[in-house]
Amino acid sequence: MNKNPIGIFDSGVGGLSIWKDINQLLPNESTIYIADSNNAPYGEKPKEKITELSIKNTELLLAQNCKLIVVACNTATTNSIDTLRKNYAIPFIGIEPATKHAAINTKTGKIGILATKGTLASELFLNTSEKYRGDVEIIETIGTGLVAIIESGNLDNAEPLLREYLQPMIDKNVDNVVLGCSHYPFLTSVIKRIIPTEITIIDSGEAVAKQTENILKDFNILNSTESSAEHLFYTNAQHDILEMFLKKIRAANYTIQSL
Ligand code: DGL
Repeated sequence: MNKNPIGIFDSGVGGLSIWKDINQLLPNESTIYIADSNNAPYGEKPKEKITELSIKNTELLLAQNCKLIVVACNTATTNSIDTLRKNYAIPFIGIEPATKHAAINTKTGKIGILATKGTLASELFLNTSEKYRGDVEIIETIGTGLVAIIESGNLDNAEPLLREYLQPMIDKNVDNVVLGCSHYPFLTSVIKRIIPTEITIIDSGEAVAKQTENILKDFNILNSTESSAEHLFYTNAQHDILEMFLKKIRAANYTIQSL
C-alpha cells in the first residue's frame, strides 16, 4: 500500500501547479495524474456535472490502486469533495482559495480573490469566506476565459483579460491577491507585469503538499523506501500541450497516456 501511487486530478493542466509542490516535498511518491482537458472548464458547469466528472476521475484513479487522491482543482473541491468523501473510503485532499491566509495577512483590510464561477458560487467557499473574513473586504472576480487560454498553452494571451480583472482590485487598494484556481499560478509572471510589487500573490500549492504529507503520515501510508518514483499522466487532449507544462514544472521519469 505505501508504495502505491498518489492520485491527482484536475480539469486539465492546472493541477500540475499542485503536482509540482507535492513532488518537491515528497519526491519518493509515485503519482498518477488525470488532466480532463476535454471537459475544461469545470468552473462554468453546474454542480451536478462537476460531481459526475469528479466521480469518473476518482474511479479511474481507484482502479489504478491509488492510496490517496488529491483533488487539485478548487472548483471540484468546493462542489464535490463532500460527495467523494462520503462515497469512497480512501483519504481525499482538496484545494480551496487561500482566503484565511490572505485575510490574516492583509494590512489594507482588502484582499482580491480570482477564481472560477463554480468556486465563487459554492457553499463551501461562501462558508469559508464567512468564517475567516472578519472585517476584511473581499473583492471577488470570476476569471472567465483564463482557463481556456491556459489550456491552449499561449499564456501571454491572458494579459488583456488579467488587466481587466486585476485593475479594479488594484484601484481598491488590495494588498493580497488570491489565485483561487489551480490553473492560475501558471499566469504568475503575466500577473506580475500588471500588479504593483507590494501586492502579494497567494496560491495554495504548498499548503496542499504539506497537508498531503500529514495525511500520508496519519494513515501510515507514506512511502519511506528509497525506490525511485514513477509518474503517469493521463490526458484527453493533445499530448504536446501537457508535455509543454511538464517541462515548465521540470517533471522527470514520466509517461503520458491518452484517456
Ligand atoms: N483548475 C480548476 C480550479 O482550480 C478548474 C478550472 C476550470 O476547469 O474551470 O478551479
